[in-house]
Amino acid sequence: MTQLIGIPKESFPGEKRVATVPDVVQKLAKLGFSVAVQAGAGEAASIGDDAYRAAGATIVPDAPTLWSRADIVFKVRAPSREEVNLLREGATLVSFIWPAQNPELLQALAARKATVLAMDSVPRISRAQKLDALSSMANIGGYRAVIEAAHEFGRFFTGQITAAGKVPPAKVFVIGAGVAGLAAIGAASGLGAIVRANDTRAEVGDQIKSLGAEFVPVDYVEEGSGTGGYAKVMSEGFQKAQREVFAKQARDVDIIITTALIPGKPAPKLITAEMVQSMKPGSVIVDMAAEQGGNCELTEPGKVAVKHGVIIIGYTDLPSRLPTQASNLYATNLFRLSEELCKAKDGRFDVNMDDEVIRGTTVVKEGVVTWPPPAPKLSAAPAGAAPPKPAAKAAAPEKKGHGHGGGEPMSAAATAAIFGVAAVLFALIGAYAPMAFLGHFTVFVLACFVGYMVVWNVTPSLHTPLMSVTNAISSIIIIGALVQIAPPAIAAVLPDGARPDEVIRWLAVVGIALTAVNMFGGFAVTRRMLSMFRK
Ligand code: NAI
Repeated sequence: MTQLIGIPKESFPGEKRVATVPDVVQKLAKLGFSVAVQAGAGEAASIGDDAYRAAGATIVPDAPTLWSRADIVFKVRAPSREEVNLLREGATLVSFIWPAQNPELLQALAARKATVLAMDSVPRISRAQKLDALSSMANIGGYRAVIEAAHEFGRFFTGQITAAGKVPPAKVFVIGAGVAGLAAIGAASGLGAIVRANDTRAEVGDQIKSLGAEFVPVDYVEEGSGTGGYAKVMSEGFQKAQREVFAKQARDVDIIITTALIPGKPAPKLITAEMVQSMKPGSVIVDMAAEQGGNCELTEPGKVAVKHGVIIIGYTDLPSRLPTQASNLYATNLFRLSEELCKAKDGRFDVNMDDEVIRGTTVVKEGVVTWPPPAPKLSAAPAGAAPPKPAAKAAAPEKKGHGHGGGEPMSAAATAAIFGVAAVLFALIGAYAPMAFLGHFTVFVLACFVGYMVVWNVTPSLHTPLMSVTNAISSIIIIGALVQIAPPAIAAVLPDGARPDEVIRWLAVVGIALTAVNMFGGFAVTRRMLSMFRK
């Protein structure tokens, strides 16, 4: 028996998104599911019942009918108490849940013997990017934050010279260059503003610059990356230095958009009341972290407040303010999750807890609370921040990065055993190998060691640390190869043994060609990824 997916109308006041769209209804049908949509569910997102019907969904008149029939319910917002009671016993629910903030909701869902997948808990690894609803919503939120700012701001964003006089461009300062921040930078520069941005993670500096903004550094040396690709709480010294930088920016800029957040922590207070007071009248602050307490001391969550002549926007529903786009992306995220859950395409969910992505997303399984999931195996510390140990090889160190393998740090006994075996091998080589070989071998071992240290201490500046590391390896190879194709004038000054012969020279040419593909390919991929944030 195939399962029925039900799409209720969102009941949260003002919520305009809907959990599926007609295109996705057709794709779900190809996976074997039938879809029922509550009448009027897509109305606020400009999707009529007829469009759903034409895509093959059945329309049911009201919420109780929908919830009582559905084997699986797709929703946007976490269900209300009434909705939990409507959920059929043993049914599956997929929606935002925020399990850390809603322990009672988890218990209530468990009592219904439900299986619940939380779209806010999707692990941020590459395989799961296509179902990362937090990122797709933050991207929309960042864009909309700029539009809200433009709406409240009394001037153009772009500079103009007109017959009536010169108009200076607006200056926008973005704090936190994660998904939302980068989207805001892209949107604001697209409108012609001068954009500056700050983030505690130094590696996002290049992403900021590539979107046409200026990176505003804090003059205090401290690595800002924590685990999972997120930031860490900074020291008191750093925070003081950062406040000074922000105070200077506040006096200068017209618009501040703040998105700074470390998951699971209240939003850091970065914009003080004095900074707000120092801004020009008519300036605008959009505090995207309003729901987590706000980055600005004077933010009122969910509202627009005017303090000291500055308009402070604390909306917590920015994605819902672009309901058609948000519904499309969210529906696609849900479809991608469905593909993971229904590999057999037989119209039934198989919640396979051995799958890292499904395990991380599942918060209740058949009435048992399974949240929090075990800690992810992957460390997010960039290579430079972690001592270069063998486990670093397996680290896939970025949230929007990649999930290439995983690895436990090696135990002390294993390390000792490897060193022991290596020592015995070296002793044997030393005792029996010819002198000439020993010389080359020593240089080879030292080169491996130096190369390893150099490569793993590279600070990632490309989109993903893995690309940075492979690029660093390519750079070392290319330097070696360039020495080998050195023109005769340089070769003449090299010691006798180091002068390359023709075969080596041609091998080096091939080596340069191949590593160049890797290096330029890395930059090309990075450009493509960054261009996803551009208009
Ligand atoms: P993210 O984790 O991708 O980005 C947050 C960024 O802030 C990171 O780059 C981090 O390094 C940086 N950061 C952390 N502490 C900092 C500090 N003290 N100073 C400077 N930078 C700091 O998160 P994402 O997905 O971009 O979301 C950002 C915020 O926007 C979150 O608070 C999220 O809840 C909120 N959001 C709000 C919406 C709304 O309707 N208001 C809609 C969507 C997201």
